[in-house]
Amino acid sequence: MNPPEYFNKIYNRECRIIDEKLSGLLAAREPSSLYGPASYILDLSGKRLRPFLVLLAAKAAGAKYKEAYNAALAVEMLHSFTLVHDDIMDNADLRRGELTLHKKYDLSTAILSGDVLLAIAYEYLLKDAKKNAKEVIAEFTRGLIEVCEGQGLDKEFETRKKVSLQEYLLMITKKTAVLVETCCAIGALLAGADKKTVTGLRNFGLNIGIAFQIQDDLLDITGNEKEFGKKIGGDLIEGKKTFLLLTALRNARGQNLASIKRVINERGIPETEVLLYKQIFEDTGAIEEAKQTIKIFSDKALKSLRAFPDSQDKEIFFWLSDLLIKRAY
Ligand code: IPE
Ligand code: IPE
Ligand code: MG
Ligand code: MG
Ligand code: MG
Repeated sequence: MNPPEYFNKIYNRECRIIDEKLSGLLAAREPSSLYGPASYILDLSGKRLRPFLVLLAAKAAGAKYKEAYNAALAVEMLHSFTLVHDDIMDNADLRRGELTLHKKYDLSTAILSGDVLLAIAYEYLLKDAKKNAKEVIAEFTRGLIEVCEGQGLDKEFETRKKVSLQEYLLMITKKTAVLVETCCAIGALLAGADKKTVTGLRNFGLNIGIAFQIQDDLLDITGNEKEFGKKIGGDLIEGKKTFLLLTALRNARGQNLASIKRVINERGIPETEVLLYKQIFEDTGAIEEAKQTIKIFSDKALKSLRAFPDSQDKEIFFWLSDLLIKRAY
């Protein structure tokens, strides 16, 4: 196994390349009233996890990074579109440590900037999708449809009194994990990989994506605003049925149970009570269970790569999974 610094260097190098390409991407387009705001979200510093996965999957399946940069940009644009619209839907003020697009500009601008990012994402995807363009575009489109379905369920669950953990898992699979899966599948497809290779990488993405969203739910309460770049407790304030809330509901007794039921019945809590709920999530074991579940899905992701030959191209997925489950941002 290579030392972590080795993979860190690759990640930093590729993030820099992606950042540079993103920052010039909309520069020559008009009107600036549309592309200025669209560039705003692209230029904020994100982890670039999804484009990085496109590159890693392409390489693991036998291609070179440079054959997949446009597709990598495409998935980051698709992701950015989902973030802009998600922040409107979640009433969020902060994204990547800065004002959300609809707060910085206005609602109409945010809606349209999201739309155009999605359209340009297709433009870029088409640049890399050559021989098997139809398969690549179908994969991307499936990812997009499932994000919308997942986001639909997320909103529906806000007002539903009863949501099972199984329904929650379906919702996060759709809103988050499928896009991560799509990134891995597209990388592999661009490399012209065989079915077994595509499936292995696909399953890695799907399971790490599930772990990633549970971790995101966890960071909503255990994170720190400066590092996480989003308001702590935002899910609780909005009355979201997160992993923590559903697990606490199952485990809580007495006063704690009454408090959890209040989030559900009143569809959220005032900001001043977030710390109180952090304690309840700790006392009911919800935080510990979230950590264990993240580990289960991350291990499952890595098992999907079992059939891949040992190499740096495989090791980097192990390094990345470790980084993601330890992340604070
Ligand atoms: C945020 O995604 C939305 C989720 C699916 C949880 P990221 O945590 O990857 O956000 P950025 O791109 O790094 O800002
Ligand atoms: C992320 O869910 C889903 C998408 C952006 C599609 P969240 O609503 O939890 O994401 P954050 O926490 O706002 O980034
Ligand atoms: Mg949301
Ligand atoms: Mg959100
Ligand atoms: Mg979240």
